[in-house]
Amino acid sequence: MRARASGPAVSITGLGCHVPERVLTNDELATIVDTSDEWISARTGIRERRIAAEHEAMSDLALPAARAALEQAGVRAADVDVVIVATVTPDMAFPATAALLADELGSSDAAAYDLSAGCTGFMYALAQGYGVLAAGLARCALVVGGDVLSRILDWTDRSTLVLFGDGAGAVVLERVARGGFLGFELGADGGGGKELLLPGSGSRVFENGNRHLVMNGREVFKFATRVMVSSAEAVLEECGREVADVDVYVPHQANVRIIDHAARKLGIEREKVVVNVDRYGNTSSGSIPLALADAARDGRLEPGKLVLMTGMGAGLTWGSALIEWTAPGERAAG
Ligand code: ACO
Repeated sequence: MRARASGPAVSITGLGCHVPERVLTNDELATIVDTSDEWISARTGIRERRIAAEHEAMSDLALPAARAALEQAGVRAADVDVVIVATVTPDMAFPATAALLADELGSSDAAAYDLSAGCTGFMYALAQGYGVLAAGLARCALVVGGDVLSRILDWTDRSTLVLFGDGAGAVVLERVARGGFLGFELGADGGGGKELLLPGSGSRVFENGNRHLVMNGREVFKFATRVMVSSAEAVLEECGREVADVDVYVPHQANVRIIDHAARKLGIEREKVVVNVDRYGNTSSGSIPLALADAARDGRLEPGKLVLMTGMGAGLTWGSALIEWTAPGERAAG
């Protein structure tokens, strides 16, 4: 699906993120599996990642991220109408992590649900949040993306263990006077679902009782390099914008080689690309909001800047959003 935003202007008015304290370096990983800092850095660009403590679940990462986003937006938790948490590692299958989060925040009037679209979850959740606000169903949406992938990794499998990390980001969406989301492009190919899956995590019975993330890295790599380009091009075309108009490019942080390939193919200059995969690895649904938060901290997200975000992941899924950045807390009057 692809669409140009045609309703009232809706934007991100607050942004927050949170990562666990524990840093796991490549050298430490090399004491767990047969790998090296050299291999991981050269093949992925990752140098370290954060790992949740045993007592930390998805909602524990989401809560500080959400509080920071609400504070930046100047919104009371009680005024949030809907909470959407994009994750493949909820605290549990039910109740939804979003419901637990809404309760902890004190968003007692909010609808709350989780959304599963792999690493693309945050892009899907942004589109849903936008849709709910643009349709007038809500005035304020809290959208969280995050994962605790360390819980579902096989800690003996070097081919997946070195790639992922834990973290979460949150944004507040509200109507604004001008700017905001220009459009979205989202897609899914369930036929490719077998390339990246968590067997035994639902109602399908698997003979092998091993409940760990399984990935065909080469196939996902090929898929990623293709859709990171096609999805970005599709949303730009839909919105009548050119690659040259993009001021800040926030790609999903899976592998620096995928990011470099996409930027090169699209023709986006290196200085416009936000990269933090070196510090966090692939945090799945947390990756794009964490990268947004880094860009904001570095002063790169000034009002009026055109920001292109593209994600891809399990499903297989992909998604892009184009947004004209607005100042934090700058909501529409009335
Ligand atoms: N350390 C050392 N050697 C390793 C490691 C490791 N951690 N992992 C694999 N190798 C070895 C392999 O065994 C292989 O050895 P062989 O040639 O003797 O068989 C060799 O390194 C090369 O393996 P490849 O898989 O060909 O390595 P490649 O260059 O393709 O990189 C990688 C692998 C990094 C996984 C790459 O394919 C990739 O990034 N794929 C995309 C992954 C991705 O983006 N996933 C996120 C999806 S988002 C979501 O929804 C979770």
